[in-house]
Amino acid sequence: MISKYKLTIGILLILALIVLYEFYYGTLFARKPGLLNRETGLFARKSGLFATEPKLSVEGSKDKYFVYSCRRGMVCGGWGDRQKGVIAVYLMANATNSQFRIEIEKPCDFTSALQPKSFNWIFNKNEFINRSSERREFIDGHGRELRDKLTKDNITEHFPRDVSYLTINSEFSHYIRQNKLYSQNLAWLKDLSMAETFATIWRDIMVLSPELQKRYQQFVTTQVTGKKLICAQIRIGRDPNNADFRDDFPIMNLDKISQVWNLFMKYNDSGKYRIFLTTDNGDVRTEAIKRFPGKLIEIDGPIGHVDRGPETEKTCDAFKKVILDQHILSTCDVLISSWSGIGRHAAYVRGKETGLYCLLRDRDLGPCNFNSSLFQPSNW
Ligand SMILES: *[C@@H]1O[C@H](CO)[C@@H](O)[C@H](O)[C@H]1NC(C)=O
Ligand SMILES: *[C@@H]1O[C@H](CO)[C@@H](O)[C@H](O)[C@H]1NC(C)=O
Ligand SMILES: *[C@@H]1O[C@H](CO)[C@@H](O)[C@H](O)[C@H]1NC(C)=O
Ligand SMILES: *[C@@H]1O[C@H](CO)[C@@H](O)[C@H](O)[C@H]1NC(C)=O
Ligand SMILES: *[C@@H]1O[C@H](CO)[C@@H](O)[C@H](O)[C@H]1NC(C)=O
Repeated sequence: MISKYKLTIGILLILALIVLYEFYYGTLFARKPGLLNRETGLFARKSGLFATEPKLSVEGSKDKYFVYSCRRGMVCGGWGDRQKGVIAVYLMANATNSQFRIEIEKPCDFTSALQPKSFNWIFNKNEFINRSSERREFIDGHGRELRDKLTKDNITEHFPRDVSYLTINSEFSHYIRQNKLYSQNLAWLKDLSMAETFATIWRDIMVLSPELQKRYQQFVTTQVTGKKLICAQIRIGRDPNNADFRDDFPIMNLDKISQVWNLFMKYNDSGKYRIFLTTDNGDVRTEAIKRFPGKLIEIDGPIGHVDRGPETEKTCDAFKKVILDQHILSTCDVLISSWSGIGRHAAYVRGKETGLYCLLRDRDLGPCNFNSSLFQPSNW
C-alpha cells in the first residue's frame, strides 16, 4: 500500500516536472506560440509561418537548411526535373521547419530568370560558414528510393547536418504528404492535389526576374495583343541535328505532329487567335512558322538543353527562353502538353483543366486532365 505521504510527494513531483517541461519546451499544452525573437535562435523564420504551428519542435529550434543544388558540371536533369527537385526540397524544409535555399548555377545563375517572392531563398554561401553540411544526389531511381522512405521516415535522421545540399529530379509531394510525423506541418497539403501543390508553391515562391518580366510584358503588348492564346509544348527528345539533344531519350515521332497542326487549324484566324509553340526541335518550329504565318508568335532565343548543353552564354539564353516560354504556357487558353515536365508544370500553374490536350508517342492527341494517365504516369 502506498501511504498518503508518498502519494502526495509523488503528485507534487509530477506537477513540478510538468511545470519544468512546459517552461523549457512549452509543448505540453497546445497554444499559439509567442513569436520568439530572431536573436534567441529559436524561431528563425518569419512570423506567419508559425501561425498554425502550436509547438516548438526540436527541429525548428536551430538554423537548419535544405538547399536545392545544381552546380556546374553536375547532372541535375532538365528544367522540368529541376522544378520537381525544388518542390521536393522545399517540402522537406517546410516539414521540418527548416530554411530553404536554391542554388542553380548550371548553365548559369538562374536568378537572372527567376527571383524570390514570399521569402528569400537566394543561396549565399557566406551564410553557411562554420556549419556542418553534406551534398547528396538523388537522381532518377535514387530519388524514387528516397521518396518511398520519406513516406514514413524522419527526414532529419536522413539529413542530420545543418546544411543539406540536395539534387533531386523526382516528384515527392505525393509521398512526403503521407508521412504521419509531419502531418501537422504539412496539414496545408491535405486537401491539395499534386497539381495544386505544385502551383501553390511555385506561385508563392517565384517571380520572373526584372529582365524576363520586361520581355514578358513586351510579348503581351506587341505579340498577344489581346487575342486568345492557343499553345503547344512539343517535346521530341533525341535529335541528331542538335548536339544538345543527340543523346536525349526519343520522346515522340515527328510524324505525330500533324495532329497538332490539325488542332491548330481550328484556330487559324488572326483576328481572334495567336498560336504559341514551344519545342525542343528545330524542324517542328520551322514547320509551324511555315504553316501559320502571321499567327505564330515566339520568344526569341536558341533551342537548347539546360542540362546537356555546354555551360555557355548560348545555353544560358536557352535556359531563360525555357523559363519564359513556360511562364507563357501557363497563361494559355488552349494548351497541348506532351511528355515533358515543362508542359505538365505549365498546366499545373495554369490551373484549369479545360482546353487541355495531351499528345503521347503511342496515343492520339486528345483532351486530358490532371488525373489522366495521358497527362502523367499513373504510378506517381
Ligand atoms: C509551409 O508551406 C506553406 C505553403 O507555402 C506555408 O503556408 C507554411 O507557412 C510553410 N510552413 C513552414 C513551417 O515553412
Ligand atoms: C567560424 O569559426 C571560427 C573559429 O571558431 C571563427 O573565428 C569565425 O569567426 C567563425 N566565422 C563565422 C562567420 O561565424
Ligand atoms: C526526427 O528526429 C530528430 C533527431 O532524432 C528528432 O529531434 C525529431 O524530433 C524527430 N522529428 C519528428 C517529427 O519525429
Ligand atoms: C492558315 O491561314 C492562312 C491564311 O490566313 C493560310 O495561308 C494557311 O495555309 C492556313 N494554315 C493552315 C494550316 O491551314
Ligand atoms: C481527379 O482525382 C481527384 C481525386 O481522386 C478527384 O477529386 C478529382 O475530381 C478528379 N478530377 C477530375 C477532373 O477527374
